[in-house]
Amino acid sequence: IVASFADQLLGGKRVVVSAGPTYEDIDPVRFIGNRSSGRMGFAVAGAAARAGAEVTLVAGPVSLATPFGVAKRIDVRSAAQMHAAVTEAAQGADIYIGSAAVGDYRPNSVAEHKLKKHDGVDLTLQLAENPDILASLSARQPHPFLVGFAAETQNVEKYARDKLHRKGLDMIAANQVGQGLGFETEDNAITLYWTDGSLELPRADKAALARQLIECIASRYQVMRG
Ligand code: CTP
Ligand code: CA
Repeated sequence: IVASFADQLLGGKRVVVSAGPTYEDIDPVRFIGNRSSGRMGFAVAGAAARAGAEVTLVAGPVSLATPFGVAKRIDVRSAAQMHAAVTEAAQGADIYIGSAAVGDYRPNSVAEHKLKKHDGVDLTLQLAENPDILASLSARQPHPFLVGFAAETQNVEKYARDKLHRKGLDMIAANQVGQGLGFETEDNAITLYWTDGSLELPRADKAALARQLIECIASRYQVMRG
């Protein structure tokens, strides 16, 4: 097999990708989760590996096979576990792509035993804020080239650019969820934003989008760090 130029876009680079949802346990049988399937992040990890990168994939609870070529997979459940795994994996990494849908809050405490129902009484769960993985990476120097994702239901560009700056990212991949796109779907459509530019990637299957995303990351990385 002859490697094409595209196969080596990220040759020799260490890339960390997070993917999937996180689950925040309430008690031994219940949790707070979200609708992320992990498919976009897994496609991105596979595309990075095909581009020649040494890829570490940090995966929340998903039922997906590890993409061909991915060097290492670390399975986690909660945002705290993902934070710890990503922080360690990102040491010395060149690029971090945060495609995971990290839970923003977790129950203040995890009940040791299954909570019992009390008829006719509302239940209030107290939630504590989770650490922001991307923001904590960008606060360290040196840190990898940072790519975030933003799944929004409205004001996509405004919210995405706001996250780009607030979290200190190099690039953000934004998409509108709903209308048969985004979570729990085969297709996606994303727009990439960086400080002084953007690139629209029209509706396509997640593997094709992942390939284009990796091409754009490689070229921005080259501009910023190369
Ligand atoms: N993210 C993260 N750590 C968190 C929450 C989010 O690293 N605790 C990352 C996600 O992996 C994603 C990006 O931040 O790459 C944007 O996630 P999003 O949920 O859209 O941003 P939030 O800042 O949590 O804003 P909100 O949920 O209020 O829209
Ligand atoms: Ca969030």
